[in-house]
Amino acid sequence: MMTEIRKIGVLTSGGDAPGMNAAIRAVVRAGVRKGIEVVGVKRGYNGLMAGNVIPMTLETVSDIVSRGGTILHSARSAEYNSPEGVQRAHDKCVELGIDGIVVIGGDGSYRGALDLSRTGIKCIGIPGTIDNDIGSTDYSIGFDTASNTAVDCLDKLMDTIKSHDRVMVAEVMGRNAGYLALNVGIGSGATAVLIPEVKYDLKRDILDRLDQAQAVGKHHALIVMAEGVGKAVDLVEQLKPRVSPDLHVASVVLGHIQRGGTPSVQDRVTASQMGYHAIELLTRGIYNRVIGVRSGEIVDYDIELALQMKKSIDVRLYEMATDVSL
Ligand code: F6P
Repeated sequence: MMTEIRKIGVLTSGGDAPGMNAAIRAVVRAGVRKGIEVVGVKRGYNGLMAGNVIPMTLETVSDIVSRGGTILHSARSAEYNSPEGVQRAHDKCVELGIDGIVVIGGDGSYRGALDLSRTGIKCIGIPGTIDNDIGSTDYSIGFDTASNTAVDCLDKLMDTIKSHDRVMVAEVMGRNAGYLALNVGIGSGATAVLIPEVKYDLKRDILDRLDQAQAVGKHHALIVMAEGVGKAVDLVEQLKPRVSPDLHVASVVLGHIQRGGTPSVQDRVTASQMGYHAIELLTRGIYNRVIGVRSGEIVDYDIELALQMKKSIDVRLYEMATDVSL
């Protein structure tokens, strides 16, 4: 017999991502309209273990669809990553009368949701990370906005690179994946894109390309480097002794700027669809699922199966990036 969902919590976990607020808004408004009591859990799993919750109403989520970050704050929780932490979270849900939790975050947050689901709390995961490295979805909330933010920064950097005939290595986020770096490398017209998924050769992939650029009259170059490959400052030190002494080579780290800013329309729409779908699942008695996008469609998978899913970088896109860069 399907046990009715009467009260749920929603939380954001891991690195914040622009669009998380749009997902929160959809979860709250769709839930309230279905007669579900919704509470916001502050600061991820830490807040859940502590019972740090606030009531969420139709009004609470007004004017947040365009706001970056997460109104619920986020956290990475070492304490929760233990049987005792999970039990504390479970017990707090029972104490507060919470039947289910919607978790918005990356695959680490999904693992936390799986652990909680095994205690009987009904969980739904929504992919939220600028890294876009979750195997069970083509798209994670925040990826489009972060890509645009980084490209805006690199467009500005390109002005000075061109004005002074310089070579700049720009380090972008992505944790251990190259999705963000590849997207940004193509969007910014980088001469070379370095990603963890494809081993690069210093001479073939960088030094020779700098020579090729010079040969076609391009006396500047932008190299986009995923943080999972290494530090831009270290690559610069490798390059300096191998290029002409009068060639200025430097590095820039875009860092946490990539996580901020008002979400793009794509992130607002996708996040709203995912939040809405989470409530549809829960009200149909379907839970312990994670939501994703496959070929443009909103889908959902069992949490445990989803965590086993892998995805790989589009090597043809990577090759295209190189072929069209000069
Ligand atoms: O997972 C999102 C992300 O921004 C990664 O790209 C980055 O490596 C990491 O978070 C940074 O983590 P923190 O914000 O905890 O320093």
